[in-house]
Amino acid sequence: MKKIIQDARELLTPSEDMRYEKNRVAEISLNRVKEEVEKYEEIVGVEIGGSYAKDTWLETEMDIDIFVKFKDTTPKEEFVNISQKVGFDAMKEYQPYTRYSEHPYVEAKINQTKINIVPCYNVNLGEWKSSADRSPYHTKNMVESLTTEMKKDVRLLKKFLQSAGIYGAEIAKQGFSGYASEVLVLNFKSFENVVNAMTDLKKNDIVGETDEEFHTPIVIIDPIDSKRNLAAAISKENVGKFILRCRAFQKNPKIQFFEQNKQFKVDVDPQNILVVSFKFKTRSPETIWGQSKKASASLRTKLNLEGYNVLRNGAFVNENGEGWLFFLLESIRISSMYVRVGPEFFSRNYVESFIEKNSQKSKLMWVGSGGKITTLESRKFNDAVSFLDELLKNGQAKLPKGLEEDFKDGFEVFAGIDELNESVKDTISDLVSTDDTFLYFN
Ligand code: CTP
Repeated sequence: MKKIIQDARELLTPSEDMRYEKNRVAEISLNRVKEEVEKYEEIVGVEIGGSYAKDTWLETEMDIDIFVKFKDTTPKEEFVNISQKVGFDAMKEYQPYTRYSEHPYVEAKINQTKINIVPCYNVNLGEWKSSADRSPYHTKNMVESLTTEMKKDVRLLKKFLQSAGIYGAEIAKQGFSGYASEVLVLNFKSFENVVNAMTDLKKNDIVGETDEEFHTPIVIIDPIDSKRNLAAAISKENVGKFILRCRAFQKNPKIQFFEQNKQFKVDVDPQNILVVSFKFKTRSPETIWGQSKKASASLRTKLNLEGYNVLRNGAFVNENGEGWLFFLLESIRISSMYVRVGPEFFSRNYVESFIEKNSQKSKLMWVGSGGKITTLESRKFNDAVSFLDELLKNGQAKLPKGLEEDFKDGFEVFAGIDELNESVKDTISDLVSTDDTFLYFN
Protein backbone atom coordinates (compact mmCIF):
# COMPACT_ATOMS: atom_id res chain seq x y z
CA MET A 1 0.00 0.00 0.00
CA LYS A 2 2.79 2.41 0.90
CA LYS A 3 4.34 2.21 -2.58
CA ILE A 4 1.02 2.92 -4.33
CA ILE A 5 0.36 5.82 -1.98
CA GLN A 6 3.79 7.25 -2.68
CA ASP A 7 3.28 6.99 -6.46
CA ALA A 8 -0.15 8.59 -6.22
CA ARG A 9 1.19 11.45 -4.11
CA GLU A 10 3.70 12.25 -6.84
CA LEU A 11 1.05 12.11 -9.53
CA LEU A 12 -1.28 14.43 -7.68
CA THR A 13 1.12 17.13 -6.53
CA PRO A 14 0.54 20.12 -8.83
CA SER A 15 3.36 20.97 -11.24
CA GLU A 16 5.38 24.16 -10.80
CA ASP A 17 3.89 25.54 -14.03
CA MET A 18 0.39 24.97 -12.76
CA ARG A 19 1.21 26.58 -9.41
CA TYR A 20 2.66 29.59 -11.21
CA GLU A 21 -0.52 29.94 -13.30
CA LYS A 22 -2.86 29.61 -10.31
CA ASN A 23 -0.81 32.12 -8.27
CA ARG A 24 -0.98 34.56 -11.15
CA VAL A 25 -4.75 34.22 -11.50
CA ALA A 26 -5.25 34.44 -7.73
CA GLU A 27 -3.20 37.62 -7.55
CA ILE A 28 -5.02 39.31 -10.44
CA SER A 29 -8.45 38.50 -9.04
CA LEU A 30 -7.63 39.33 -5.42
CA ASN A 31 -6.28 42.74 -6.47
CA ARG A 32 -9.33 43.45 -8.61
CA VAL A 33 -11.67 42.61 -5.72
CA LYS A 34 -9.60 44.66 -3.26
CA GLU A 35 -9.90 47.72 -5.51
CA GLU A 36 -13.68 47.37 -5.65
CA VAL A 37 -14.29 46.87 -1.93
CA GLU A 38 -12.60 50.22 -1.16
CA LYS A 39 -15.90 51.84 -2.22
CA TYR A 40 -17.98 50.25 0.52
CA GLU A 41 -17.74 50.97 4.22
CA GLU A 42 -19.82 47.84 4.94
CA ILE A 43 -16.86 45.68 3.87
CA VAL A 44 -14.05 45.13 6.36
CA GLY A 45 -11.74 42.84 4.42
CA VAL A 46 -11.07 40.40 1.62
CA GLU A 47 -9.27 37.08 1.84
CA ILE A 48 -8.56 34.03 -0.22
CA GLY A 49 -9.90 30.78 1.22
CA GLY A 50 -10.77 27.26 0.10
CA SER A 51 -8.29 24.70 -1.14
CA TYR A 52 -6.06 27.25 -2.86
CA ALA A 53 -5.29 29.01 0.43
CA LYS A 54 -4.75 25.68 2.19
CA ASP A 55 -2.63 24.19 -0.59
CA THR A 56 -4.87 21.14 -0.84
CA TRP A 57 -6.13 21.72 -4.39
CA LEU A 58 -6.20 19.30 -7.27
CA GLU A 59 -5.25 20.37 -10.76
CA THR A 60 -8.55 19.04 -12.10
CA GLU A 61 -10.88 20.43 -9.50
CA MET A 62 -9.81 23.73 -8.03
CA ASP A 63 -11.61 27.07 -7.83
CA ILE A 64 -10.16 30.19 -6.28
CA ASP A 65 -12.49 31.30 -3.49
CA ILE A 66 -12.36 34.96 -2.53
CA PHE A 67 -14.28 35.82 0.61
CA VAL A 68 -15.58 39.36 0.99
CA LYS A 69 -16.09 40.04 4.69
CA PHE A 70 -18.96 42.32 5.74
CA LYS A 71 -19.57 44.09 9.07
CA ASP A 72 -22.02 41.89 10.99
CA THR A 73 -24.45 44.81 11.22
CA THR A 74 -24.97 44.87 7.42
CA PRO A 75 -28.58 43.95 6.51
CA LYS A 76 -28.93 40.76 4.39
CA GLU A 77 -30.19 42.66 1.37
CA GLU A 78 -27.16 44.96 1.21
CA PHE A 79 -24.86 42.05 1.96
CA VAL A 80 -26.20 40.30 -1.16
CA ASN A 81 -26.49 43.38 -3.39
CA ILE A 82 -23.09 44.87 -2.57
CA SER A 83 -21.29 41.54 -2.93
CA GLN A 84 -22.93 41.02 -6.33
CA LYS A 85 -21.83 44.48 -7.43
CA VAL A 86 -18.29 43.92 -6.17
CA GLY A 87 -18.10 40.57 -7.94
CA PHE A 88 -19.49 41.79 -11.25
CA ASP A 89 -17.38 44.98 -11.28
CA ALA A 90 -14.18 43.22 -10.26
CA MET A 91 -14.59 40.48 -12.86
CA LYS A 92 -16.17 42.59 -15.62
CA GLU A 93 -13.49 41.65 -18.17
CA TYR A 94 -14.12 37.93 -17.59
CA GLN A 95 -17.87 37.45 -18.25
CA PRO A 96 -19.02 37.06 -14.64
CA TYR A 97 -22.29 35.29 -13.80
CA THR A 98 -24.32 34.58 -10.66
CA ARG A 99 -24.40 31.21 -8.95
CA TYR A 100 -26.43 30.13 -5.97
CA SER A 101 -25.58 28.58 -2.67
CA GLU A 102 -27.28 29.74 0.57
CA HIS A 103 -26.74 33.25 -0.94
CA PRO A 104 -25.98 34.18 -4.50
CA TYR A 105 -22.31 34.67 -5.34
CA VAL A 106 -20.38 35.69 -8.42
CA GLU A 107 -18.28 33.37 -10.54
CA ALA A 108 -15.98 34.10 -13.49
CA LYS A 109 -13.35 32.18 -15.37
CA ILE A 110 -9.82 33.41 -16.02
CA ASN A 111 -8.29 31.04 -18.55
CA GLN A 112 -9.33 27.67 -17.16
CA THR A 113 -9.58 28.73 -13.53
CA LYS A 114 -12.91 29.57 -11.89
CA ILE A 115 -12.99 32.44 -9.42
CA ASN A 116 -15.76 32.51 -6.82
CA ILE A 117 -16.46 35.79 -5.04
CA VAL A 118 -18.41 34.86 -1.94
CA PRO A 119 -19.81 37.19 0.75
CA CYS A 120 -19.53 36.35 4.43
CA TYR A 121 -19.98 38.17 7.72
CA ASN A 122 -16.99 39.10 9.84
CA VAL A 123 -18.16 37.45 13.07
CA ASN A 124 -16.66 35.93 16.21
CA LEU A 125 -16.23 32.17 16.33
CA GLY A 126 -19.64 30.53 16.74
CA GLU A 127 -21.72 33.65 16.07
CA TRP A 128 -22.50 32.61 12.49
CA LYS A 129 -24.91 34.71 10.47
CA SER A 130 -24.42 32.96 7.13
CA SER A 131 -22.95 29.56 6.32
CA ALA A 132 -19.86 31.03 4.63
CA ASP A 133 -18.84 32.79 7.89
CA ARG A 134 -17.07 29.68 9.07
CA SER A 135 -14.81 29.56 6.03
CA PRO A 136 -12.13 32.05 7.15
CA TYR A 137 -11.87 30.05 10.39
CA HIS A 138 -11.59 26.81 8.42
CA THR A 139 -8.77 28.27 6.36
CA LYS A 140 -6.88 29.56 9.38
CA ASN A 141 -7.21 26.27 11.24
CA MET A 142 -6.11 24.14 8.28
CA VAL A 143 -3.22 26.42 7.35
CA GLU A 144 -1.96 26.15 10.93
CA SER A 145 -2.63 22.42 11.42
CA LEU A 146 -1.98 20.53 8.18
CA THR A 147 1.61 19.42 7.68
CA THR A 148 3.13 19.20 4.17
CA GLU A 149 2.60 15.43 4.22
CA MET A 150 -1.02 15.81 5.28
CA LYS A 151 -1.68 18.27 2.42
CA LYS A 152 -0.44 15.63 -0.01
CA ASP A 153 -2.73 13.13 1.64
CA VAL A 154 -5.72 15.46 1.38
CA ARG A 155 -5.10 15.54 -2.37
CA LEU A 156 -4.93 11.77 -2.36
CA LEU A 157 -8.20 11.45 -0.50
CA LYS A 158 -9.95 13.98 -2.76
CA LYS A 159 -8.83 12.07 -5.84
CA PHE A 160 -9.80 8.74 -4.29
CA LEU A 161 -13.29 10.15 -3.74
CA GLN A 162 -13.41 11.78 -7.15
CA SER A 163 -12.50 8.56 -8.88
CA ALA A 164 -15.43 6.90 -7.08
CA GLY A 165 -17.76 9.72 -8.22
CA ILE A 166 -18.48 10.77 -4.63
CA TYR A 167 -16.49 14.02 -4.33
CA GLY A 168 -18.52 17.22 -3.86
CA ALA A 169 -21.07 18.25 -1.26
CA GLU A 170 -23.48 19.88 -3.70
CA ILE A 171 -26.93 18.34 -3.87
CA ALA A 172 -26.22 16.98 -7.34
CA LYS A 173 -23.48 14.77 -5.86
CA GLN A 174 -24.36 14.33 -2.18
CA GLY A 175 -20.76 13.34 -1.67
CA PHE A 176 -17.80 14.41 0.49
CA SER A 177 -16.77 18.08 0.40
CA GLY A 178 -13.15 19.16 0.02
CA TYR A 179 -13.33 20.43 3.58
CA ALA A 180 -14.60 17.08 4.91
CA SER A 181 -11.57 15.44 3.21
CA GLU A 182 -9.26 17.87 5.01
CA VAL A 183 -10.96 17.15 8.34
CA LEU A 184 -10.64 13.38 7.85
CA VAL A 185 -6.92 13.60 7.11
CA LEU A 186 -6.32 16.03 9.97
CA ASN A 187 -8.18 13.76 12.34
CA PHE A 188 -6.50 10.49 11.34
CA LYS A 189 -3.13 12.10 10.43
CA SER A 190 -2.67 10.34 7.06
CA PHE A 191 -4.53 8.95 4.05
CA GLU A 192 -3.53 5.43 5.01
CA ASN A 193 -5.00 5.88 8.49
CA VAL A 194 -8.23 7.28 7.02
CA VAL A 195 -8.57 4.19 4.83
CA ASN A 196 -7.87 1.81 7.70
CA ALA A 197 -10.27 3.62 10.03
CA MET A 198 -13.04 3.62 7.44
CA THR A 199 -12.78 -0.11 6.77
CA ASP A 200 -13.81 -0.75 10.36
CA LEU A 201 -16.33 2.05 10.68
CA LYS A 202 -19.45 1.17 12.65
CA LYS A 203 -22.90 2.65 12.10
CA ASN A 204 -23.12 6.22 13.50
CA ASP A 205 -19.43 6.33 14.46
CA ILE A 206 -18.25 9.88 15.12
CA VAL A 207 -15.11 11.45 13.68
CA GLY A 208 -14.25 14.32 16.03
CA GLU A 209 -15.89 15.50 19.23
CA THR A 210 -19.38 16.79 19.87
CA ASP A 211 -22.15 16.92 22.47
CA GLU A 212 -24.82 16.82 19.79
CA GLU A 213 -26.58 13.72 18.54
CA PHE A 214 -26.58 13.07 14.82
CA HIS A 215 -28.27 10.25 12.96
CA THR A 216 -26.34 10.04 9.71
CA PRO A 217 -24.50 6.82 8.76
CA ILE A 218 -21.20 8.56 9.40
CA VAL A 219 -20.66 11.71 11.45
CA ILE A 220 -17.75 14.06 10.73
CA ILE A 221 -17.59 16.99 13.14
CA ASP A 222 -16.36 20.38 11.96
CA PRO A 223 -13.38 21.14 14.26
CA ILE A 224 -14.29 24.81 14.43
CA ASP A 225 -18.00 24.18 15.11
CA SER A 226 -18.79 21.06 17.12
CA LYS A 227 -22.50 21.48 16.35
CA ARG A 228 -21.94 20.94 12.63
CA ASN A 229 -21.89 17.52 11.03
CA LEU A 230 -19.99 17.69 7.73
CA ALA A 231 -21.50 14.37 6.69
CA ALA A 232 -25.09 15.61 7.00
CA ALA A 233 -25.50 15.97 3.24
CA ILE A 234 -23.68 12.79 2.21
CA SER A 235 -26.10 10.14 0.94
CA LYS A 236 -26.10 6.73 2.58
CA GLU A 237 -25.29 5.18 -0.78
CA ASN A 238 -22.16 7.34 -1.08
CA VAL A 239 -20.99 6.53 2.46
CA GLY A 240 -21.40 2.88 1.49
CA LYS A 241 -19.38 3.34 -1.70
CA PHE A 242 -16.61 5.07 0.25
CA ILE A 243 -16.35 2.34 2.86
CA LEU A 244 -16.42 -0.43 0.25
CA ARG A 245 -13.71 1.37 -1.72
CA CYS A 246 -11.56 1.72 1.40
CA ARG A 247 -11.93 -2.02 2.07
CA ALA A 248 -11.12 -2.85 -1.55
CA PHE A 249 -8.06 -0.57 -1.48
CA GLN A 250 -6.86 -2.11 1.77
CA LYS A 251 -7.19 -5.57 0.26
CA ASN A 252 -5.84 -4.78 -3.16
CA PRO A 253 -4.18 -1.33 -3.46
CA LYS A 254 -3.85 -0.13 -7.06
CA ILE A 255 -3.14 3.18 -8.73
CA GLN A 256 -6.54 2.96 -10.51
CA PHE A 257 -8.17 4.08 -7.27
CA PHE A 258 -6.77 7.54 -8.03
CA GLU A 259 -7.60 7.63 -11.72
CA GLN A 260 -10.56 8.96 -13.58
CA ASN A 261 -11.56 5.80 -15.38
CA LYS A 262 -15.22 6.40 -15.81
CA GLN A 263 -16.66 5.23 -19.08
CA PHE A 264 -20.24 5.01 -20.10
CA LYS A 265 -21.49 1.49 -19.50
CA VAL A 266 -24.89 -0.16 -19.49
CA ASP A 267 -25.05 -3.64 -18.01
CA VAL A 268 -28.78 -4.09 -18.52
CA ASP A 269 -31.16 -3.95 -21.50
CA PRO A 270 -31.37 -0.19 -22.29
CA GLN A 271 -35.00 -0.64 -23.35
CA ASN A 272 -35.84 -1.19 -19.69
CA ILE A 273 -34.64 2.31 -18.83
CA LEU A 274 -37.61 4.65 -18.68
CA VAL A 275 -36.88 8.36 -19.05
CA VAL A 276 -38.97 11.49 -18.52
CA SER A 277 -37.39 14.66 -19.90
CA PHE A 278 -38.64 18.17 -19.13
CA LYS A 279 -37.63 21.82 -19.06
CA PHE A 280 -37.81 24.08 -16.01
CA LYS A 281 -37.66 27.76 -15.22
CA THR A 282 -34.48 28.83 -13.43
CA ARG A 283 -34.41 28.40 -9.66
CA SER A 284 -31.75 27.59 -7.07
CA PRO A 285 -29.97 24.22 -7.49
CA GLU A 286 -31.17 23.10 -4.05
CA THR A 287 -34.80 23.68 -5.03
CA ILE A 288 -34.79 22.10 -8.47
CA TRP A 289 -32.73 19.10 -7.38
CA GLY A 290 -34.99 18.59 -4.37
CA GLN A 291 -38.12 18.78 -6.53
CA SER A 292 -36.75 16.48 -9.21
CA LYS A 293 -35.66 13.84 -6.70
CA LYS A 294 -39.07 14.00 -5.06
CA ALA A 295 -40.80 13.70 -8.43
CA SER A 296 -38.68 10.67 -9.28
CA ALA A 297 -39.54 9.00 -5.96
CA SER A 298 -43.24 9.72 -6.34
CA LEU A 299 -43.38 8.35 -9.91
CA ARG A 300 -41.51 5.29 -8.72
CA THR A 301 -44.32 4.66 -6.24
CA LYS A 302 -46.94 5.11 -8.95
CA LEU A 303 -45.13 2.71 -11.28
CA ASN A 304 -44.76 0.13 -8.52
CA LEU A 305 -48.44 0.39 -7.62
CA GLU A 306 -49.35 -0.25 -11.24
CA GLY A 307 -47.28 -3.43 -11.23
CA TYR A 308 -43.98 -2.30 -12.77
CA ASN A 309 -41.00 -3.36 -10.74
CA VAL A 310 -38.73 -0.30 -10.43
CA LEU A 311 -35.28 -1.48 -9.45
CA ARG A 312 -33.60 1.93 -9.21
CA ASN A 313 -34.52 5.51 -9.93
CA GLY A 314 -32.81 8.88 -10.16
CA ALA A 315 -32.91 12.46 -11.42
CA PHE A 316 -30.56 14.84 -13.16
CA VAL A 317 -30.83 18.56 -13.95
CA ASN A 318 -28.42 20.89 -15.68
CA GLU A 319 -27.78 24.62 -15.60
CA ASN A 320 -29.62 25.15 -18.91
CA GLY A 321 -33.01 24.42 -17.41
CA GLU A 322 -33.25 20.83 -18.65
CA GLY A 323 -34.13 17.91 -16.40
CA TRP A 324 -34.52 14.13 -16.60
CA LEU A 325 -36.11 11.55 -14.34
CA PHE A 326 -35.15 7.95 -14.89
CA PHE A 327 -36.20 4.53 -13.78
CA LEU A 328 -34.57 1.18 -14.28
CA LEU A 329 -37.42 -1.30 -14.60
CA GLU A 330 -37.25 -5.04 -14.36
CA SER A 331 -39.29 -4.92 -17.54
CA ILE A 332 -40.77 -2.01 -19.49
CA ARG A 333 -43.73 -4.24 -20.38
CA ILE A 334 -45.88 -6.14 -17.98
CA SER A 335 -48.76 -8.54 -18.44
CA SER A 336 -51.81 -7.05 -20.15
CA MET A 337 -53.99 -8.62 -17.42
CA TYR A 338 -54.02 -8.16 -13.70
CA VAL A 339 -55.72 -9.79 -10.75
CA ARG A 340 -57.98 -7.77 -8.46
CA VAL A 341 -58.81 -9.30 -5.10
CA GLY A 342 -62.13 -8.30 -3.55
CA PRO A 343 -63.95 -8.96 -0.26
CA GLU A 344 -64.54 -12.32 1.38
CA PHE A 345 -67.83 -14.03 0.35
CA PHE A 346 -69.33 -13.67 3.88
CA SER A 347 -69.45 -9.86 3.55
CA ARG A 348 -72.70 -9.82 1.60
CA ASN A 349 -72.96 -6.07 0.88
CA TYR A 350 -69.33 -5.59 -0.06
CA VAL A 351 -69.40 -8.61 -2.32
CA GLU A 352 -72.46 -7.37 -4.16
CA SER A 353 -71.07 -3.93 -4.75
CA PHE A 354 -67.72 -5.43 -5.84
CA ILE A 355 -69.42 -7.66 -8.40
CA GLU A 356 -71.55 -4.80 -9.65
CA LYS A 357 -68.51 -2.55 -10.12
CA ASN A 358 -66.26 -5.10 -11.74
CA SER A 359 -68.40 -7.53 -13.71
CA GLN A 360 -68.28 -5.45 -16.91
CA LYS A 361 -64.47 -5.22 -16.96
CA SER A 362 -63.87 -8.73 -15.68
CA LYS A 363 -62.57 -11.43 -18.00
CA LEU A 364 -62.89 -14.05 -15.31
CA MET A 365 -64.36 -14.00 -11.82
CA TRP A 366 -64.05 -16.64 -9.09
CA VAL A 367 -63.94 -17.32 -5.37
CA GLY A 368 -60.27 -17.47 -4.54
CA SER A 369 -58.76 -20.13 -2.29
CA GLY A 370 -58.80 -17.65 0.63
CA GLY A 371 -62.52 -17.15 0.14
CA LYS A 372 -62.14 -13.76 -1.53
CA ILE A 373 -63.95 -12.79 -4.71
CA THR A 374 -61.29 -12.40 -7.36
CA THR A 375 -61.39 -11.05 -10.90
CA LEU A 376 -59.04 -10.95 -13.85
CA GLU A 377 -59.05 -7.61 -15.69
CA SER A 378 -57.26 -6.00 -18.62
CA ARG A 379 -54.87 -3.12 -18.15
CA LYS A 380 -55.43 0.00 -20.22
CA PHE A 381 -51.69 0.06 -20.97
CA ASN A 382 -49.15 -2.60 -20.39
CA ASP A 383 -46.04 -0.60 -21.25
CA ALA A 384 -44.55 1.90 -18.80
CA VAL A 385 -44.11 4.65 -21.42
CA SER A 386 -47.83 4.93 -22.25
CA PHE A 387 -48.81 4.49 -18.62
CA LEU A 388 -46.56 7.29 -17.35
CA ASP A 389 -47.34 9.55 -20.27
CA GLU A 390 -51.04 9.38 -19.51
CA LEU A 391 -50.52 9.75 -15.78
CA LEU A 392 -48.51 12.93 -16.32
CA LYS A 393 -50.94 14.31 -18.91
CA ASN A 394 -53.91 13.75 -16.61
CA GLY A 395 -52.16 15.58 -13.79
CA GLN A 396 -52.48 12.50 -11.55
CA ALA A 397 -48.78 12.12 -11.00
CA LYS A 398 -48.65 14.16 -7.75
CA LEU A 399 -45.53 16.08 -8.74
CA PRO A 400 -44.10 18.70 -6.37
CA LYS A 401 -45.98 21.99 -6.93
CA GLY A 402 -43.13 23.91 -8.58
CA LEU A 403 -42.52 21.16 -11.13
CA GLU A 404 -46.20 20.71 -11.95
CA GLU A 405 -46.13 24.14 -13.60
CA ASP A 406 -43.05 23.24 -15.66
CA PHE A 407 -44.63 19.99 -16.80
CA LYS A 408 -47.66 21.89 -18.11
CA ASP A 409 -45.29 23.41 -20.70
CA GLY A 410 -44.39 19.95 -21.96
CA PHE A 411 -42.41 16.81 -21.23
CA GLU A 412 -41.47 13.63 -23.00
CA VAL A 413 -41.57 10.02 -21.84
CA PHE A 414 -39.49 7.40 -23.65
CA ALA A 415 -37.60 4.14 -23.19
CA GLY A 416 -33.90 3.75 -23.95
CA ILE A 417 -30.95 6.09 -23.91
CA ASP A 418 -30.17 6.84 -27.56
CA GLU A 419 -31.55 10.37 -27.38
CA LEU A 420 -29.59 11.37 -24.27
CA ASN A 421 -26.52 13.62 -24.21
CA GLU A 422 -23.21 12.59 -22.62
CA SER A 423 -23.66 14.23 -19.22
CA VAL A 424 -27.05 12.59 -18.74
CA LYS A 425 -25.61 9.27 -19.85
CA ASP A 426 -22.87 9.66 -17.22
CA THR A 427 -25.47 9.94 -14.50
CA ILE A 428 -27.54 7.08 -15.87
CA SER A 429 -24.40 4.99 -16.10
CA ASP A 430 -24.23 5.03 -12.27
CA LEU A 431 -27.70 3.57 -12.17
CA VAL A 432 -27.44 0.89 -14.81
CA SER A 433 -23.92 -0.49 -14.49
CA THR A 434 -22.01 -2.27 -11.76
CA ASP A 435 -19.95 0.13 -9.68
CA ASP A 436 -16.20 -0.36 -10.28
CA THR A 437 -15.73 -0.67 -6.54
CA PHE A 438 -17.05 -4.21 -6.60
CA LEU A 439 -14.56 -5.15 -9.30
CA TYR A 440 -11.65 -3.93 -7.18
CA PHE A 441 -12.26 -6.71 -4.69
CA ASN A 442 -10.91 -9.23 -7.22
N1 CTP B 1 -17.28 24.64 2.80
C1 CTP B 1 -17.87 24.05 3.90
N2 CTP B 1 -18.71 22.99 3.75
C2 CTP B 1 -19.01 22.52 2.53
C3 CTP B 1 -18.43 23.09 1.39
C4 CTP B 1 -17.56 24.17 1.57
O1 CTP B 1 -17.63 24.49 5.03
N3 CTP B 1 -19.88 21.52 2.42
C5 CTP B 1 -16.39 25.81 3.02
C6 CTP B 1 -15.01 25.42 3.48
O2 CTP B 1 -14.53 26.43 4.32
C7 CTP B 1 -14.23 25.36 2.18
C8 CTP B 1 -14.83 26.53 1.41
O3 CTP B 1 -16.21 26.53 1.81
O4 CTP B 1 -12.85 25.53 2.40
C9 CTP B 1 -14.71 26.42 -0.09
O5 CTP B 1 -15.34 25.25 -0.53
P1 CTP B 1 -15.25 24.67 -2.00
O6 CTP B 1 -14.84 25.76 -2.94
O7 CTP B 1 -16.52 23.95 -2.24
O8 CTP B 1 -14.16 23.55 -1.94
P2 CTP B 1 -12.63 23.53 -1.49
O9 CTP B 1 -12.57 23.15 -0.05
O10 CTP B 1 -11.94 24.78 -1.85
O11 CTP B 1 -12.11 22.28 -2.30
P3 CTP B 1 -11.79 22.09 -3.88
O12 CTP B 1 -11.95 23.44 -4.54
O13 CTP B 1 -10.39 21.59 -3.91
O14 CTP B 1 -12.77 21.08 -4.35
